[in-house]
Amino acid sequence: MNIQEFKNLNEIHQYFAVHNRCKLKKSATQPVYEINTPKSGIVFVGEAPGLNEDKLGKPFVGAAGKLLDELLEGIGYTREDVYVTNVVKYRPPDNREPLPEEKDSCRVWLNAELIFLKPKVIIPLGRHALERFLPGQQISLVHGQAFTHSSGTPLFAMYHPAVVLYNPTLKDTLVKDFSSLKDFLEGKIKAIESTDTKSIQKKKQNVIDEILKL
Ligand code: URA
Repeated sequence: MNIQEFKNLNEIHQYFAVHNRCKLKKSATQPVYEINTPKSGIVFVGEAPGLNEDKLGKPFVGAAGKLLDELLEGIGYTREDVYVTNVVKYRPPDNREPLPEEKDSCRVWLNAELIFLKPKVIIPLGRHALERFLPGQQISLVHGQAFTHSSGTPLFAMYHPAVVLYNPTLKDTLVKDFSSLKDFLEGKIKAIESTDTKSIQKKKQNVIDEILKL
Protein backbone atom coordinates (compact mmCIF):
# COMPACT_ATOMS: atom_id res chain seq x y z
CA MET A 1 0.00 0.00 0.00
CA ASN A 2 1.34 3.41 -1.03
CA ILE A 3 -0.59 6.35 0.43
CA GLN A 4 0.20 8.48 -2.66
CA GLU A 5 -1.92 6.07 -4.74
CA PHE A 6 -5.20 6.93 -3.00
CA LYS A 7 -7.18 9.31 -5.22
CA ASN A 8 -9.68 10.48 -2.62
CA LEU A 9 -10.70 10.08 1.02
CA ASN A 10 -13.29 7.48 0.18
CA GLU A 11 -10.57 5.19 -1.22
CA ILE A 12 -8.53 5.68 1.97
CA HIS A 13 -11.51 4.78 4.17
CA GLN A 14 -12.50 1.78 2.03
CA TYR A 15 -8.94 0.45 2.24
CA PHE A 16 -8.44 0.91 5.99
CA ALA A 17 -11.93 -0.35 6.85
CA VAL A 18 -10.63 -3.70 5.56
CA HIS A 19 -6.94 -3.40 6.55
CA ASN A 20 -7.13 -2.70 10.28
CA ARG A 21 -7.19 -4.95 13.30
CA CYS A 22 -9.36 -2.87 15.62
CA LYS A 23 -11.28 -5.30 17.82
CA LEU A 24 -14.17 -2.81 18.09
CA LYS A 25 -15.17 -3.84 14.55
CA LYS A 26 -16.98 -6.83 16.05
CA SER A 27 -19.32 -4.79 18.26
CA ALA A 28 -19.67 -1.64 16.10
CA THR A 29 -22.31 -1.27 13.38
CA GLN A 30 -19.87 0.27 10.91
CA PRO A 31 -16.72 2.46 10.70
CA VAL A 32 -17.37 6.18 11.10
CA TYR A 33 -15.76 8.66 8.70
CA GLU A 34 -16.15 11.75 6.53
CA ILE A 35 -15.48 11.67 2.79
CA ASN A 36 -15.65 15.34 1.81
CA THR A 37 -12.42 17.33 1.54
CA PRO A 38 -12.84 20.74 3.18
CA LYS A 39 -11.81 23.94 1.45
CA SER A 40 -10.41 25.53 4.60
CA GLY A 41 -7.73 22.94 5.51
CA ILE A 42 -9.16 22.91 9.07
CA VAL A 43 -9.17 19.40 10.53
CA PHE A 44 -10.78 18.47 13.87
CA VAL A 45 -9.81 15.17 15.48
CA GLY A 46 -12.17 13.74 18.11
CA GLU A 47 -11.95 10.64 20.28
CA ALA A 48 -14.27 7.86 19.05
CA PRO A 49 -17.81 7.60 17.66
CA GLY A 50 -20.84 7.43 19.93
CA LEU A 51 -24.27 5.85 19.45
CA ASN A 52 -25.60 8.24 16.77
CA GLU A 53 -22.33 8.22 14.82
CA ASP A 54 -22.29 4.40 14.89
CA LYS A 55 -25.84 4.33 13.46
CA LEU A 56 -25.19 6.87 10.69
CA GLY A 57 -21.51 6.18 9.90
CA LYS A 58 -20.72 9.91 10.19
CA PRO A 59 -18.62 11.65 12.87
CA PHE A 60 -20.07 14.16 15.37
CA VAL A 61 -23.77 13.89 14.50
CA GLY A 62 -25.02 13.61 18.12
CA ALA A 63 -25.18 16.09 20.99
CA ALA A 64 -21.41 16.84 20.94
CA GLY A 65 -21.65 17.35 17.16
CA LYS A 66 -24.48 19.87 17.56
CA LEU A 67 -22.35 21.83 20.01
CA LEU A 68 -19.38 21.66 17.63
CA ASP A 69 -21.61 23.10 14.87
CA GLU A 70 -22.73 25.91 17.19
CA LEU A 71 -19.12 26.75 18.16
CA LEU A 72 -18.09 26.74 14.49
CA GLU A 73 -20.99 29.02 13.54
CA GLY A 74 -19.90 31.37 16.33
CA ILE A 75 -16.63 32.01 14.44
CA GLY A 76 -18.19 32.10 10.97
CA TYR A 77 -17.73 28.49 9.78
CA THR A 78 -20.12 25.65 8.98
CA ARG A 79 -19.48 21.92 9.26
CA GLU A 80 -19.09 21.75 5.46
CA ASP A 81 -16.11 24.12 5.71
CA VAL A 82 -14.08 21.77 7.92
CA TYR A 83 -13.07 18.09 8.11
CA VAL A 84 -13.94 16.11 11.23
CA THR A 85 -12.47 12.73 12.11
CA ASN A 86 -11.66 10.58 15.15
CA VAL A 87 -8.63 8.84 16.67
CA VAL A 88 -10.70 5.61 16.72
CA LYS A 89 -13.09 4.86 13.86
CA TYR A 90 -15.39 2.37 15.63
CA ARG A 91 -17.71 2.94 18.60
CA PRO A 92 -16.41 1.56 21.91
CA PRO A 93 -19.24 -0.34 23.67
CA ASP A 94 -21.33 1.80 26.05
CA ASN A 95 -19.26 4.82 24.97
CA ARG A 96 -16.36 3.78 27.19
CA GLU A 97 -13.00 5.43 26.56
CA PRO A 98 -10.91 3.85 23.79
CA LEU A 99 -8.14 1.49 24.93
CA PRO A 100 -4.49 2.05 23.88
CA GLU A 101 -4.59 -0.91 21.46
CA GLU A 102 -7.80 0.43 19.86
CA LYS A 103 -6.12 3.81 19.32
CA ASP A 104 -3.01 2.08 17.93
CA SER A 105 -4.96 -0.05 15.47
CA CYS A 106 -6.50 3.08 13.87
CA ARG A 107 -3.25 5.10 13.96
CA VAL A 108 -2.14 4.47 10.36
CA TRP A 109 -5.70 5.17 9.12
CA LEU A 110 -5.63 8.63 10.73
CA ASN A 111 -2.08 9.22 9.43
CA ALA A 112 -3.26 8.41 5.89
CA GLU A 113 -6.15 10.88 6.17
CA LEU A 114 -3.79 13.61 7.39
CA ILE A 115 -1.16 12.92 4.69
CA PHE A 116 -3.93 13.14 2.06
CA LEU A 117 -5.54 16.28 3.53
CA LYS A 118 -2.32 18.25 4.28
CA PRO A 119 -4.14 20.25 6.99
CA LYS A 120 -3.55 23.95 7.50
CA VAL A 121 -4.30 23.30 11.18
CA ILE A 122 -5.15 20.20 13.22
CA ILE A 123 -7.48 20.73 16.19
CA PRO A 124 -7.31 17.81 18.63
CA LEU A 125 -10.56 17.69 20.63
CA GLY A 126 -9.97 16.41 24.16
CA ARG A 127 -7.24 14.42 25.80
CA HIS A 128 -7.14 11.29 23.61
CA ALA A 129 -6.56 13.33 20.45
CA LEU A 130 -4.19 15.68 22.29
CA GLU A 131 -2.09 12.74 23.45
CA ARG A 132 -1.81 11.59 19.82
CA PHE A 133 -0.26 14.90 18.73
CA LEU A 134 1.29 16.39 21.90
CA PRO A 135 2.13 13.40 24.10
CA GLY A 136 2.56 14.18 27.78
CA GLN A 137 0.59 17.45 27.72
CA GLN A 138 -2.55 18.08 29.74
CA ILE A 139 -5.64 19.48 28.04
CA SER A 140 -6.47 21.63 31.10
CA LEU A 141 -3.12 23.43 30.65
CA VAL A 142 -2.82 23.75 26.87
CA HIS A 143 -6.40 24.28 25.64
CA GLY A 144 -6.94 27.43 23.59
CA GLN A 145 -3.25 27.55 22.55
CA ALA A 146 -1.51 26.95 19.22
CA PHE A 147 1.54 24.71 18.84
CA THR A 148 3.70 23.49 15.99
CA HIS A 149 3.74 19.71 15.70
CA SER A 150 7.14 18.11 15.07
CA SER A 151 5.92 17.46 11.48
CA GLY A 152 5.58 21.23 11.04
CA THR A 153 1.76 21.23 11.01
CA PRO A 154 0.13 23.76 13.35
CA LEU A 155 -2.03 22.34 16.15
CA PHE A 156 -4.66 24.12 18.20
CA ALA A 157 -5.54 22.34 21.46
CA MET A 158 -9.24 22.31 22.35
CA TYR A 159 -11.45 20.71 25.02
CA HIS A 160 -13.78 18.04 23.61
CA PRO A 161 -17.27 19.61 23.16
CA ALA A 162 -18.77 16.63 25.07
CA VAL A 163 -17.24 18.00 28.32
CA VAL A 164 -19.93 20.69 28.27
CA LEU A 165 -22.61 17.99 28.46
CA TYR A 166 -21.13 16.90 31.83
CA ASN A 167 -19.76 20.26 32.98
CA PRO A 168 -21.81 23.16 31.51
CA THR A 169 -19.49 25.76 33.06
CA LEU A 170 -16.85 24.79 30.46
CA LYS A 171 -19.01 26.14 27.62
CA ASP A 172 -17.67 29.68 28.15
CA THR A 173 -14.11 28.30 27.97
CA LEU A 174 -14.89 26.56 24.66
CA VAL A 175 -16.48 29.72 23.23
CA LYS A 176 -13.38 31.71 24.27
CA ASP A 177 -11.02 29.07 22.84
CA PHE A 178 -12.93 29.06 19.52
CA SER A 179 -12.53 32.81 19.43
CA SER A 180 -8.74 32.35 19.96
CA LEU A 181 -8.82 29.74 17.16
CA LYS A 182 -10.35 32.38 14.88
CA ASP A 183 -7.54 34.80 15.84
CA PHE A 184 -4.99 32.09 15.12
CA LEU A 185 -6.55 31.37 11.70
CA GLU A 186 -6.42 35.09 10.93
CA GLY A 187 -2.71 35.19 11.84
CA LYS A 188 -3.23 37.26 15.01
CA ILE A 189 -1.74 34.56 17.30
CA LYS A 190 1.53 32.71 16.66
CA ALA A 191 2.03 28.99 17.38
CA ILE A 192 4.55 27.87 20.00
CA GLU A 193 6.96 25.07 19.11
CA SER A 194 5.81 21.80 20.73
CA THR A 195 9.37 21.43 22.04
CA ASP A 196 9.08 24.82 23.78
CA THR A 197 7.45 23.59 26.94
CA LYS A 198 8.65 26.54 29.05
CA SER A 199 5.36 28.45 28.83
CA ILE A 200 3.41 25.27 29.61
CA GLN A 201 5.66 24.51 32.58
CA LYS A 202 5.16 28.08 33.81
CA LYS A 203 1.38 27.72 33.53
CA LYS A 204 1.61 24.36 35.34
CA GLN A 205 3.57 26.04 38.19
CA ASN A 206 0.94 28.82 38.37
CA VAL A 207 -1.79 26.19 38.69
CA ILE A 208 0.19 24.45 41.49
CA ASP A 209 0.74 27.82 43.22
CA GLU A 210 -3.01 28.56 43.03
CA ILE A 211 -3.84 25.15 44.55
CA LEU A 212 -1.29 25.65 47.36
CA LYS A 213 -3.00 28.94 48.24
CA LEU A 214 -6.34 27.16 48.94
N1 URA B 1 -17.37 12.20 20.13
C1 URA B 1 -16.26 11.95 19.40
O1 URA B 1 -15.14 12.02 19.89
N2 URA B 1 -16.43 11.64 18.12
C2 URA B 1 -17.62 11.57 17.54
O2 URA B 1 -17.66 11.28 16.35
C3 URA B 1 -18.74 11.85 18.33
C4 URA B 1 -18.60 12.16 19.62
